[in-house]
Amino acid sequence: MARDLRKFIQQLEQRGQLQRIEALVDPDLEIAEIADRMLQKGGPALLFEHVKGADYPVAVNLLGTVERTCWAMKMESQAELEKLGEKLALLQQPKPPKKLAQFLDFGKVLFDVVRAKPQRDLFPPCHQVVLRDDQVDLTKIPMIRPYVGDGGKVVTLGLVITKDCETGTPNVGVYRLQLQSKNTMTVQWLSVRGGARHLRKAAEHGQQLEVAIALGVDPLIIMAAATPIPVDLSEWLFAGLYGGSGVLLAKCKTVDLEVPAHSEFVLEGTITPGEVGVDGPFGDHMGYYGGINEAAPLMRFQCLTHRHQPLYLTTFSGRPPKRRR
Ligand SMILES: Cc1cc2nc3c(=O)[nH]c(=O)nc-3n(C[C@H](O)[C@H](O)[C@H](O)COP(=O)(O)O)c2cc1C
Repeated sequence: MARDLRKFIQQLEQRGQLQRIEALVDPDLEIAEIADRMLQKGGPALLFEHVKGADYPVAVNLLGTVERTCWAMKMESQAELEKLGEKLALLQQPKPPKKLAQFLDFGKVLFDVVRAKPQRDLFPPCHQVVLRDDQVDLTKIPMIRPYVGDGGKVVTLGLVITKDCETGTPNVGVYRLQLQSKNTMTVQWLSVRGGARHLRKAAEHGQQLEVAIALGVDPLIIMAAATPIPVDLSEWLFAGLYGGSGVLLAKCKTVDLEVPAHSEFVLEGTITPGEVGVDGPFGDHMGYYGGINEAAPLMRFQCLTHRHQPLYLTTFSGRPPKRRR
């Protein structure tokens, strides 16, 4: 599946659902404020082309309406989303088909699963620029700070990829990350999340946990990563099922993990069990600031790769907090 973020943005522009903004904007508070006002009006997705202190543009509000979310799922209407639901339900409880029509339905779903298998891209665009060790500088990525009481700059739409150290099964989740230094970030994941489980297991085995963060991927892959699916099912396969063909993956440069080949940026690093940082607070969707986590797992990155002229995709939790901390 060669679809990527750029193609989705192109599609939005062709359909009159993307506004380019040439004026200089500040990733500190200003981008989120403008994006939130536009979102309230049901406005278009936004591409900020000149961001203060950054060389890269920032895209926001891509999935800001039901219509755009359908398009991201390669669908034209909400009714098609329901059909997808039926397909997924068949996969979840595959009872033996009793009638010929059921058999054909089930067979078609199995065919979809075969078509959905991920494939390997040997010359992935995400490796066009490779920066290692001291060259890694996460401050160059135009992360936003959405609200005035927020604890720092945040990544909200990164795919966090880890692997079970016993079974080798990968997990892909979307978890909030806070910038801590030019090569570290903390992660905020619930204890039930796949990444948290993998870290506990790595700790039990006395190992570090390898991690890759893919930024700026096809929104359809983000939807698959944010779908709660059984632990032994692959989010890559789900993305392929959503999109009708397998996701193109690339092998990371310094960790034994795979990422979407067309990611705009990829961060590669490790978490050492027990190494933590202070994370938060951040405004959340309830309209209040969440707490401070003084023991958030710390990720250390040794490699940063990106496409030529990458763009950064972000979002933020609505609704805006009603009170300061
Ligand atoms: C924009 C966005 C932000 C999210 N942020 C978090 C987060 O900070 N922490 C968390 O535990 N889950 C977060 N989630 C939810 C998880 O990504 C989602 O439940 C996913 O299915 C978890 O995958 P897993 O069960 O494989 O760990 C977020 C989802 C979205 C769409």
